[in-house]
Amino acid sequence: MKNNRQSFASFIENATSYLLGLLAVLLALIVLFVYLLAGGSLPQLAAPAGEVLLAEVYEGLIPQEDLERLWQAPDWSTVADEPNALYIEYGRELIANTSEYLGPLGKVKAISNGLNCQNCHLGAGTVPFGNNYAAVASTYPKVRGRSGQMEDIPKRINDCFERSLNGSPLEVDSEEMIAMVAYMEWLGKEVPKGEVPFGAGLIDVSYLDRAADPIKGKRIYDAYCASCHQEDGQGVMRFDQLAYTYPPLWGAHAYNDGAGLYRMSRFAGYVRANMPLGATVDNPILTDQEAWDVAAYVNSMPRPSKDITGDWPDISKKPVDHPFGPFSDTFPEEQHKYGPFPPIVAAKKQAK
Ligand code: HEC
Ligand code: HEC
Repeated sequence: MKNNRQSFASFIENATSYLLGLLAVLLALIVLFVYLLAGGSLPQLAAPAGEVLLAEVYEGLIPQEDLERLWQAPDWSTVADEPNALYIEYGRELIANTSEYLGPLGKVKAISNGLNCQNCHLGAGTVPFGNNYAAVASTYPKVRGRSGQMEDIPKRINDCFERSLNGSPLEVDSEEMIAMVAYMEWLGKEVPKGEVPFGAGLIDVSYLDRAADPIKGKRIYDAYCASCHQEDGQGVMRFDQLAYTYPPLWGAHAYNDGAGLYRMSRFAGYVRANMPLGATVDNPILTDQEAWDVAAYVNSMPRPSKDITGDWPDISKKPVDHPFGPFSDTFPEEQHKYGPFPPIVAAKKQAK
């Protein structure tokens, strides 16, 4: 009996301390819950040794804090409120699916090579550093060194038709031209006149202190590009033959040698932030060197030629990477094409 009573007492004792312990744990949990509710955060658990937190390593082309400053296109859903909404919408459609309307089998007319403007002006010209149209409405008309003339937006659009799309110009009073201009003006409507927003156009890739190397570039091409653009650079045509799934980079159907991408800095800038497909300015795939070298390889392959003898009437205005003489300096054509560019830049500065 005595034993029983004793064990009963110790049972009660044990149970109370057990309950008290439970209560303490519960209380701690409530405190933690309230802390979290009030916006508190738990301390980071250290990663086990040897494990790298990949997602947290930022290796973008611009400082991470500048990402939020990047230009953004106006909200597409607001187009309906614009008085010329139909033109803006048709303009975007033409930029995105140019070939269906104006390519070799185009339903409006056949004046271009099968590329879409969007193949190079990504997201119909809305992607930061994706060769977008952010600064078109704000900076045209302007005098351009290439033509030596005052160029308005239609003239600039036709430059791309005649060079990047290796075709012929579109009538400036056509519905198609009016629509594309309306779209570009809408895209740039929030940019003050004269300003070039951060993220407009293409990124400038730092110059190498050596010439870009087509042989190294071929290795990059085979590893990173050929799976889509094909080993022969001819791309892949869509099943309906109306446009490309993967556009050609050289050969008869590619941009001609008067086009912007034929300049190494433009090609390197486009690729650095946008190719292989999926690369972005905050998540690039190639290095500077790889971008320059692959540019050298692609731009050493055959492509249509344009008579550009009328270009750059003032030869001193030629960009350092304009690959055709005559030049206002003594560097050979070869160096103006592949670099090294820093000596040309330095000589240009001195000449001023
Ligand atoms: C093969 C690539 C390619 C294609 C296709 C292409 N463009 Fe371009 N476009 C360029 C490049 C490169 C530039 C010059 C970028 C630079 O100098 O920074 C450019 C520049 C422009 C500009 C001037 C941008 C500015 O801010 O000054 C306009 C406007 C333009 N393109 C319109 C078009 C239109 C419209 C089409 C379709 C009919 C088109 N482009 C097709 C490569 C292309
Ligand atoms: C996964 C497929 C894929 C890979 C890999 C790829 N591209 Fe592209 N590339 C595309 C597509 C698709 C477009 C057109 C984008 C659009 O219309 O939105 C394009 C467009 C281009 C253009 C402009 C259009 C033209 O025909 O001139 C160039 C230049 C280019 N890519 C270069 C490269 C280079 C250089 C590499 C390798 C470093 C590469 N691409 C890797 C799919 C790819």
